[in-house]
Amino acid sequence: MKKLHTVSLISLVLIFAAFPGEMNAQVKVQLKMDENSPVISKNIYGQFSEHLGHCIYGGIYVGEDSKIPNTRGIRNDVVKALRDIEIPNLRWPGGCFADEYHWMDGIGPKDSRPRMVNTHWGGVVEDNSFGTHEFLDLCEQLGTEPYICGNMGSGSVEEMSKWIEYITFGGESPMSELRAKNGHPEPWKVKFWGVGNENWGCGGNMTPEFYSDNYRRYATYCRNYGDNRLVKIAGGPNSFDYNWMEVLMKAIPQNLMQGVSLHYYTVPKNWSDKGSATQFDESEYFTTILKALSMEELVSKHSAIMDKYDPEKKVGLMVDEWGAWYNVEEGTNPGFLLQQNTLRDAILSAVTLNIFNNHCDRVKMSNIAQMVNVLQSLILTDEEKMVLTPTYYVYNMYKVHHDATLIAAELTSPDYNLDGRTMKAVSVSASKDKNGAVHISLVNIDPHRSQDVKCLLGDEAKIGKGNISGTIITAASLSSFNSFDHPDMVKISEFKGGSVKNGIISAQIPPMSVVTLELK
Ligand code: AHR
Repeated sequence: MKKLHTVSLISLVLIFAAFPGEMNAQVKVQLKMDENSPVISKNIYGQFSEHLGHCIYGGIYVGEDSKIPNTRGIRNDVVKALRDIEIPNLRWPGGCFADEYHWMDGIGPKDSRPRMVNTHWGGVVEDNSFGTHEFLDLCEQLGTEPYICGNMGSGSVEEMSKWIEYITFGGESPMSELRAKNGHPEPWKVKFWGVGNENWGCGGNMTPEFYSDNYRRYATYCRNYGDNRLVKIAGGPNSFDYNWMEVLMKAIPQNLMQGVSLHYYTVPKNWSDKGSATQFDESEYFTTILKALSMEELVSKHSAIMDKYDPEKKVGLMVDEWGAWYNVEEGTNPGFLLQQNTLRDAILSAVTLNIFNNHCDRVKMSNIAQMVNVLQSLILTDEEKMVLTPTYYVYNMYKVHHDATLIAAELTSPDYNLDGRTMKAVSVSASKDKNGAVHISLVNIDPHRSQDVKCLLGDEAKIGKGNISGTIITAASLSSFNSFDHPDMVKISEFKGGSVKNGIISAQIPPMSVVTLELK
């Protein structure tokens, strides 16, 4: 007891000693970096697009004959908006859809492609007009890496193996000839390859032992053709299922697996009544963010298991589905998962991305679910109309962290309390980019109090002239959202509240806001 007391006294003295003359600040951030600081992979800012509701059809792909301006059937407005945020990779075709998708249905002349039922998502007809060629065209238009999720649940080893041969093999083979016949003689490059999705559930209801054995078989025949090198990603655990991670890490040799996925959704209430996307009180907001912050525990505990088997951190933790999952918008198909997106979602995505940034030694990719018109989307469309969500603006603001070097941020923050519950009011991550600019992203979760922040730059993090600027996302209320009629209720504005003096950055961060400071 006495020892503990002495230790905490020493750390208190150290904290205050690090902020000479700044003891009144509520929030203190000590920034540190050295030559071993890891790089924040830009792939943490990845996206996910499934054949679900109006994500692909209507949201991305409208067909060449559409009156909506398009390039080979792909919406120009959506491509332009996504190019602006420089999305690094795009996961497709699912999700649960992936383990029922047979890729050969989606190649060749469109009028002879089979029509099927999308059993998972609304029982609607899938006409396969968006297939492999269209997806890879989309990736080229976006300037992004494809991340294809192969079908292990209901597909064969041969089918998956031939898909890779069809896309990436440049020599003479039945699959490369078929690709050429379908109009693409040159092979494409595909970097990220998923072997099944949620195989503990919709992807086959497997045990981790059964999945691991099968993964070894499937991954063996996922070949590297020419200079194409696949990053093979195993279907990892559902949220807190640590046993799944343990079994996979133990059973699968690392030459066969470069990544393991993790899925975690934030559901404010429960799976039968998840809560409304736009109508919620402060208690539900508190619960939502508290649940989202479980990502810290998830990433830490899954990483600790991975560390046991892979201390050199060669295998990436790929959080390839995450985000808020609310009740669908009234009057819409329950299988389409359409939900609005408010300032609460901006805060949720910013705190989550801060967690990923801070764990970038192990987290090598993440894909928010989903890019357009589904769950916590970045973009909503309705026929020819398009609107950018608060979550989109967070991705726009955070692109400064792509491939930048992490600056470790030691945070001292007051609490945000509600009804006897507590969380830290502030979340932070920071990085230094290739040009030497430092970016500090701060989230004030508290909807009532502004935060007086002092950030102390360690020697290594110090930069040139000390010019400071910033951007902010906030709005009139936590439930503010962008609609087609009012598209600018939540957006990025200039933040002028930052200053820097003697290596200390000061900023007054307004309630319920996301701020990124830039120091050059
Ligand atoms: O993103 C929606 C669904 O959620 C995905 O298809 C599935 O993988 C997950 O359960």
